[in-house]
Parts: sequence; structure tokens; C-alpha cells
Amino acid sequence: MSVNKEVKRITTNTLQKMKSNSEKISMITAYDFSFAKLFDEAGIDVILVGDSASNVMAGHETTLPITLDQMIYHAQSVLRGIHRCLVVVDLPFGTYQSNSDIALASAIRIMKETGAHAIKLEGGEEALESIKRIVNAGIPVMGHLGLTPQSIYKFGTYTVRAKEEEEANKLRKDALLLQEAGCFAMVLEKIPAQLAKEVSESLHIPTIGIGAGNDCDGQVLVMHDMMGINTEFKPRFLRQYLNLHEQITGAVQQYITDVKSGDFPNEHESY
Ligand code: KIV
Repeated sequence: MSVNKEVKRITTNTLQKMKSNSEKISMITAYDFSFAKLFDEAGIDVILVGDSASNVMAGHETTLPITLDQMIYHAQSVLRGIHRCLVVVDLPFGTYQSNSDIALASAIRIMKETGAHAIKLEGGEEALESIKRIVNAGIPVMGHLGLTPQSIYKFGTYTVRAKEEEEANKLRKDALLLQEAGCFAMVLEKIPAQLAKEVSESLHIPTIGIGAGNDCDGQVLVMHDMMGINTEFKPRFLRQYLNLHEQITGAVQQYITDVKSGDFPNEHESY
């Protein structure tokens, strides 16, 4: 007899309903099978295979060096671990900015080769043509406004964006354009809480904030930051839920001690 376990999958429609019902959306990054499985089983709504993999997995200073092939590798691993949550994959730098043919081809590769449910890309008006073509191809697109890390060398700093009225007005306009272009949601990164509130209220699609206050329709954090694996990165917006740096260091030091003293393995750990 087979037991048919019905799994209620999260879709882009689910996120839309969550916004309508004022139910907050939880999103976290993941880059591999084991963590994706843990997060999915813990009940997360959305996993983002972020190009932050460039920083936290590969050790680069910025998100710029990661390639489409590398993002596909991470996304394939994540998709093997999940049964329920929605998986969104970042289009990495250089795979969509030059023209919409390249953008569409990159998005199609991600969907075809990984089984992901949606892609995310950074930018407002300048990314519209690509967004429209990707959406028209049947691929759900999540936008990303505010501090867009792929433009770090244009900004010159990771400080809060859109504090001045001119940039805030552009962001308000871009958010509406992304919605009209067919984005199903958008990330708002490191902008004043009041602006994020206003933008979230002006849109019918959900906003997911990171450093954008409590009035976004959901929140996202980079897993390494919220788990305390990184010790150097402690921005004000980050809530650290674990101190894995300390715990892992302690565990590995204990293991080294046990190996060197001959305590490990003992007779119960041997055949
Ligand atoms: O790549 C990433 O992790 C992101 C989040 C910070 C939103 O884009």
C-alpha cells in the first residue's frame, strides 16, 4: 500500500494570497542540498539561491564574479533538497544587463537546468525590457530595488539607499514599473523603513525586505549572517539567531583534542 503524502506547495499565487491576507512571507538564502532540506522542512516559504553565494560560498568580496554555471550548480543542489517551498534563483551579474535576448536565454537556462520556480534580477526601468520578455516566456520574475549589490562599484558604498528625495522618487516609480512589467514580488534592500512602507502599500504584489523595516510583506536574510557563521558582517538590520561560528569552532576543537588524545574512536565507535 502506498501512502500518498499530499504536500501543499508554495507558489507565486500563494505569496500573492499571503499579501492579501496580511500574512508575512519568510525567505532565506540557501546554496546547497542539506541546508535547503533543513529550511524546507522547518517551514520556510521561499528559498533564494542568491548570488551572495559569491561572497559566502566562494569567498569573493562582491557578488560580481559568480557565473551562471556556478549559480546553476547551487540551484540544482537546492532543488534536490526541497518538496514544498518556492525556490527563486538570482541571475548573476553579466547575464542579463547587456540585452534582453541574453537575459531571456539566461533565465531559460536556470529554469530548464535546475527546476527552479522563478528568477530574480536587480534594477528598475533599465531592466524592464528584459523583465517583460522573461515574464512573457512564462518565467516568474522577482525584482530587486534599493541597494542592488551588483551595482556596488556604481554606488561606491553599501550604505542605505534612497535617503534623498530624488533617489526615493526613482525607487517609487521603478517599483510601479516592475509591477506593471509582471514581476510577482520584489526585494527592497537597505532603504528607509518609511519608504519601504509606502512602496509596499502602493503595490498589490508582495515586497520582501532586507534592511527595509517591518512594513514589507516579508523578510529575507542571508543564511550565513542569521546563523552567525560570519563574524565580520554585523549590520544594524541583521538579527543573529545562532552563533554557529562559536559552536562549530568548539566542536572542531573538541574533535581535534579527541583524535590527538586517542579518545576517538572508542570501542563502541569501532567494528
Ligand atoms: O543574493 C542575495 O542573497 C540577495 C539577498 C540579499 C536579497 O539578493
